[in-house]
Amino acid sequence: MTLVLSRFRLLGFGLWLATVLCMSVGGAQEKPEAAATAQPHHAPLLIVRGPSGTTKALSPDRFAELPRCTVEAAIPHTDRKARYEGVLLEEILREVGVQAAARSDGSLELPRPLRSAYVLIEAADGYQAVFSLPELLSKLGGHTVVVADREDGKPLPAQAAPYRIVEVSGGGFERWVRQVRRILVQPGSASPFPPTPSEPDGASQSAADEGGVYLIGTGPGDPDLITMKAARILRTADVVFCFSWMKDELAPFVRSGTVEVVSPRLQGGRYFGASPEQYSGEERERATDAVAELAKLKARIAELVAERKTVAFADNGDPMIFSPWAWIPEQLREFHPVVIPGLSSFNAGNAAVQRSVARAGFVTLSSGTEIGSPDEHGRLTGTMVFFTHTTKLKDLLPRLRQQYPDDTPVAIVCQVSYPGEKVIQGTLGNIHDMISDADLPHLYLVYVGDALK
Ligand SMILES: C[S@@+](CC[C@H](N)C(=O)[O-])C[C@H]1O[C@@H](n2cnc3c(N)ncnc32)[C@H](O)[C@@H]1O
Repeated sequence: MTLVLSRFRLLGFGLWLATVLCMSVGGAQEKPEAAATAQPHHAPLLIVRGPSGTTKALSPDRFAELPRCTVEAAIPHTDRKARYEGVLLEEILREVGVQAAARSDGSLELPRPLRSAYVLIEAADGYQAVFSLPELLSKLGGHTVVVADREDGKPLPAQAAPYRIVEVSGGGFERWVRQVRRILVQPGSASPFPPTPSEPDGASQSAADEGGVYLIGTGPGDPDLITMKAARILRTADVVFCFSWMKDELAPFVRSGTVEVVSPRLQGGRYFGASPEQYSGEERERATDAVAELAKLKARIAELVAERKTVAFADNGDPMIFSPWAWIPEQLREFHPVVIPGLSSFNAGNAAVQRSVARAGFVTLSSGTEIGSPDEHGRLTGTMVFFTHTTKLKDLLPRLRQQYPDDTPVAIVCQVSYPGEKVIQGTLGNIHDMISDADLPHLYLVYVGDALK
């Protein structure tokens, strides 16, 4: 087997490296000429879904921009060899946030839930093959698997195009997949076996939790930041209700088959406790649907509780901070729901900015409706933390700049506790030059105030 990284080719080495070593060659690598024409521009998109549900549709142009490599491998069921060009599968997974994290001693490790994750490859004709995630990461000792778009210097033949999985070492030919269309990373789930009485964190310890209704905070994103209590209840729960975006994140904590995605009409509970009649038009329809969904849910819970089942509602962060489930304690009070607190993204954000945010004596968590008020010197002495589910930076900034001086510190905390965590620091006057709204991820918090100095 031979692997050639095109960076070396561009440098004029012209060498075939007799090694299975795969390196990330990142942005430093020039795009080989051939790559740009590897696929016709009408080639289908390559769909890649990450462990937390992030999905990317890679166009042929985007694919051609990724670091390229070349391998030589025996063609399945023939005595011929061919030279395949393409992108390492691990580089593609990096696009959806899969990567090893650095330990404090500089060595690398895979976040715990990803150690039992698998990567499902799907072809246009329905063929499927599976790799374990750890076996694909070269820096952790994995082997070479390439998503190839060229064979012997030419675009792939029609029966293999647009992409073919080439497994250079390791398994057999069953995992050479042609006409690859979709790549999915599925995190492992909690053990499907019921906990045994001897297990310290198993059912015996949770006797007090048996049966009943729980509203559970699962923490800000990093699976290691869930509380032991939340993890234990999720693991023993018979049914775990969640909104669609939480489904994949719950996989490491729940037993298979226990998660149920509920109707988005239940989000926020805005129409509960009032009659739909008081609304008109489309809003009345929405209110009617929401009330009907709540009635259905209550009937379901009543059945489950009667069977002494454990029912959990899962939310990220803390379930009492801007939660779509905030209505549960009141609307489901007949079932005596217990709220299990979680670490909010706000807590993780404080750690990321590394400031004592309550230094001036107060912190305000805001969804953007409240922007605080200046002290007698015109300054924002305390800290405002904006959750951005209903407001965005571009709406907040002009309002804040009207009220506070341009040198007021700002920190944008993106995807806190996820592998892509990033903190962008600036001031009200210059933050917009440092980041545009288009660059911001879906999840971010905006910290503002003099305590950040
Ligand atoms: C509906 S609120 C839920 C907040 C959640 N209950 C908590 O305690 O973190 C969603 C907002 O929280 C913030 N958020 C949640 N998770 C985040 C994360 N990992 N990184 C940055 N912001 C996050 C974002 O502003 C997002 O729009």
